[in-house]
Amino acid sequence: MNAAANHGRPEGEPVSLWVATAGTTDYPALRGDVEVDVAVIGAGIAGMTAALALKRAGRTVAVLETARVGTGVTGHTTGKVTSLHRLAYTGIARSHSTGTARVYGQANQAAVEHVAQLVADEAIDCDFRRVANYTYAESADALELVRAEASLAARLGLPATFTAEVPLPFPVRGAVRFDGQGQIHAVKYLQGLARAVHGDGSFVFEHTRAQNVHDGSPAVVDTENGWVRARDIIVATNVPCGGQGLFYLRSHPHRSYIVAGRVDTLPLDATFISADQPMRSILTASVNGTSYVLTGGEGHRVSESGDTAARYRRLAAFARDRLDVDKVAYRWSTQDGMPLDGLPYAGLMSPTAKHVYVITGLRKWGLTNGTAAALILTDTLTGRTNAWAPVFNSNRITPAASAGRFVKENIRTFAAVVAGKVRGRPGHADLLPGEGTVIKANGGSTAVYKDEEGHVHAVSATCTHLGCTVGFNAAEATWDCPCHGSRFTTDGAVIQGPAAKDLPPAPMP
Ligand SMILES: Cc1cc2nc3c(=O)[nH]c(=O)nc-3n(C[C@H](O)[C@H](O)[C@H](O)COP(=O)(O)OP(=O)(O)OC[C@H]3O[C@@H](n4cnc5c(N)ncnc54)[C@H](O)[C@@H]3O)c2cc1C
Ligand code: FES
Repeated sequence: MNAAANHGRPEGEPVSLWVATAGTTDYPALRGDVEVDVAVIGAGIAGMTAALALKRAGRTVAVLETARVGTGVTGHTTGKVTSLHRLAYTGIARSHSTGTARVYGQANQAAVEHVAQLVADEAIDCDFRRVANYTYAESADALELVRAEASLAARLGLPATFTAEVPLPFPVRGAVRFDGQGQIHAVKYLQGLARAVHGDGSFVFEHTRAQNVHDGSPAVVDTENGWVRARDIIVATNVPCGGQGLFYLRSHPHRSYIVAGRVDTLPLDATFISADQPMRSILTASVNGTSYVLTGGEGHRVSESGDTAARYRRLAAFARDRLDVDKVAYRWSTQDGMPLDGLPYAGLMSPTAKHVYVITGLRKWGLTNGTAAALILTDTLTGRTNAWAPVFNSNRITPAASAGRFVKENIRTFAAVVAGKVRGRPGHADLLPGEGTVIKANGGSTAVYKDEEGHVHAVSATCTHLGCTVGFNAAEATWDCPCHGSRFTTDGAVIQGPAAKDLPPAPMP
């Protein structure tokens, strides 16, 4: 696939507003060996929440983060802290049961309160504010859906009402409204959690990639420059590193895009998501004294990315036409795991695991699902019963809710593999700066990228996870794997798993 990155490149700095405005952290890399009660891999919402909860419960912890605290998926979120997950309750009640939907709601509503409490307890300056959250309907069909969601959610004990009064600057028919929800600067929040974790025998290590995880007593995490020995390990790397637990077969990565534009004053005092398609998510935020309107959407399965630059342009057009946003200041995208049966995973890595736990499949609502999952594992590791644990159980078997989807998703992955095998160009002579392409030559595939200075970079196009062929993402200038969502820089470094190894350099074809 060949796509121009500099011709028709979408407007806005290609960086998350949250990462750009948070300041950086400077925790040391692990050098040598460390012993703690619990090793936590990944400093996103799931890992940092678990680490602090365990430390508060009297455990020593070591957090290992391959990049910087909060710069993974959590640093690219929209920032809604809410138990209203679009139309989730209707879906969960239908594919599981009303009881399961009730527990899901309780866990997520408790997570909203947990975040609010931590912000207060640890005095974290992260722009947390209480807002109402709406799922709004523009069409008559969607109106019926939000009415049903409001009625079910209220019956489940959640702070839900149906309303025809929706404070948006364009007409809609009605919405389900949840009161007392929140929004947050997620990177500042995680940096606050990291400050509370580091010290007194607990550690945050940055630029430290977990290479191998060994179950046992003790359990051990290997890194390039040392190991961590612990009684228990939590793998909170969004997609379990190295593909452990085969979660890449039980959830599929879904990507979405966000544009943020500066505005004079904050126009909205609530957060929104549409029940209609194309789905649009709206949030306004005041960050370091500047007001922004965020518009998200254009979600798709990673194998079906299409023209990524056009996706940003459609979001910018919505922000301009509907929300009076003149110009996009920042744009970014990220992806999250969508579990086959619609419920997140928190528990042992596999049915035979003893001391290795996992949090994954947070279904694009991880600020609360990840918080709830972290609290479940904290209870499990400290011997307390948790009423939400069976619903999040990572080793559950739910064929009625997941079998059809398993077949469908894996057929789509297979189609992506086949497409990757037949795609490819014979040469790179006509590449423009900012463009990338996969070249088939001598029985192999090479991913070739020409940077803005005209230097050409070549790495293997074969994904180090299970061997699919990567494709060029023009809007982000990354190599993305269509099969299970691994992403790599143009020099081949892993940005996101399940791949654990970089794409190796390749000779120029
Ligand atoms: C566009 C978009 C918008 C969203 N908006 C919202 C929202 O408004 N509200 C909401 O609740 N949810 C939202 N979500 C979902 C939410 O952002 C995610 O569910 C959540 O942030 C995932 O957190 P995590 O801790 O699993 O992953 P991450 O934040 O990615 O944390 C995992 C960390 O592990 C590190 N890591 C990976 N491999 C290794 C390794 N081998 N060794 C060491 N470290 C490693 C990574 O660098 C990363 O920092 C959104 C998702 C998307 C895609
Ligand atoms: S992510 Fe699985 S093969 Fe690439």
